[in-house]
Amino acid sequence: MSMDAIKMLQGKKILLGVSGSIAAYKAATLIRLLVKEGAEVKVVMTNAATGFITPLTLATLSKNEVPLNISDHDSWNNHVRLGRWADVMLIAPASANTIAKMALGLCDNLLLAVYLSATCPVMFAPAMDEDMWHHPATRSNVDKLISYGHQQIPIATGELASGLFGEGRMAEPEQIVAFLKTHFQQKNGNKPLNGTTAIVTAGPTIEHIDPVRYISNHSSGKMGIAIAEALADAGANVQLVLGPTSQQTSHTGITTIKVQTAQEMFEAVTTRFPHAGIVVAAAAVADYRPANVADRKIKKGEAQLHIDLEKTPDILRSLGDSKGPQQLLVGFSLETNNEKEYALKKLREKHLDLIVMNSLADAGAGFNYDTNKVTLFDKNGQERSFPLKSKQEVAQDIVSAIIELQHA
Ligand code: PMT
Repeated sequence: MSMDAIKMLQGKKILLGVSGSIAAYKAATLIRLLVKEGAEVKVVMTNAATGFITPLTLATLSKNEVPLNISDHDSWNNHVRLGRWADVMLIAPASANTIAKMALGLCDNLLLAVYLSATCPVMFAPAMDEDMWHHPATRSNVDKLISYGHQQIPIATGELASGLFGEGRMAEPEQIVAFLKTHFQQKNGNKPLNGTTAIVTAGPTIEHIDPVRYISNHSSGKMGIAIAEALADAGANVQLVLGPTSQQTSHTGITTIKVQTAQEMFEAVTTRFPHAGIVVAAAAVADYRPANVADRKIKKGEAQLHIDLEKTPDILRSLGDSKGPQQLLVGFSLETNNEKEYALKKLREKHLDLIVMNSLADAGAGFNYDTNKVTLFDKNGQERSFPLKSKQEVAQDIVSAIIELQHA
């Protein structure tokens, strides 16, 4: 039998929470796809969602009644039963308002009451306008939900209800179904990193000089993204902290947190670190930043311009200083000379478990190439050199070394 013929969600109980967003209309397609995959679907909606799609439509497609209020049917404990019935609670679309209420634990509608009662894994697919998505309140609410162990289905970029183009679209129903399939595959399969949370840093950072200029480097993020994908393939729940780059991933096991500066990367990583089992620092973080950022464009004047630089926080060093016995830290070392000496120094001084050495002296290695040539040194004194390979293959070698170290 081909894999396509196997209904991968056969018998799975999916509790779909639909909140008020224009993307609510996609709930109809989502339910159809889930039912086609063999899933049993029950729907709860907020009253705001009924303005975008009717309960009758969703009840017909799911073949189950769609309750709207805590006192609609049965008795008061309706929400507890629903919450306990599900294998997964999926909130799609998750509006900014519903995300905020979930983060706070508010309970002023049936969807939220069911959410608070749910004992199963929770996933949410945000949908809102780009400015709302980037608002610090939403950022912090999403981070909170992730810290509760919920999975955020990656948001899409495209045309928004406002007519603007940008981030904020709900993932397409097909992507949401793929996300669910990966979830159940990982749950059933015996992947080596199932249940592990991994943080990966990738890409460059930029450090502002004035509103039009910055200091940065040539990192594309390709190496770090390949590692994030290899970790997710091995079953890890991956948080990718990504500096400014056009590279991206649509892997369903990865949540991407975009940052710009070393300081932002430091904050994004250190707040997540207590929940992480593995950290891989593949980012090329600026070591120095302008001590003062001009608030207006610096005008051309003297023949020379001096900019005072100050050190950025060393993210990896700070993790190494505070890591627990079960946490595994992997660093990179990029040099042009004395590569081994510097790599071993970083392994020792930053209290790493493993360091990946790559050199700009090797053709095809380092920034922006699709290939890399690495040597791995671990804390037990083992050294392994690899030939030039694709960054995906290098990522596999690194993940294999991580899994070995976990079992050592
Ligand atoms: O992104 P690509 O184009 O695919 O290129 C991949 C890469 C060359 C960027 C990658 O393979 C790599 O080598 N990344 C680390 C680059 C680097 O900054 O190396 P470093 O030797 O200066 O830093 C040592 C380690 O400390 C690194 O793990 C770095 O992420 C970390 N660090 C450095 C400075 C700082 N302030 N905080 C850090 O966490």
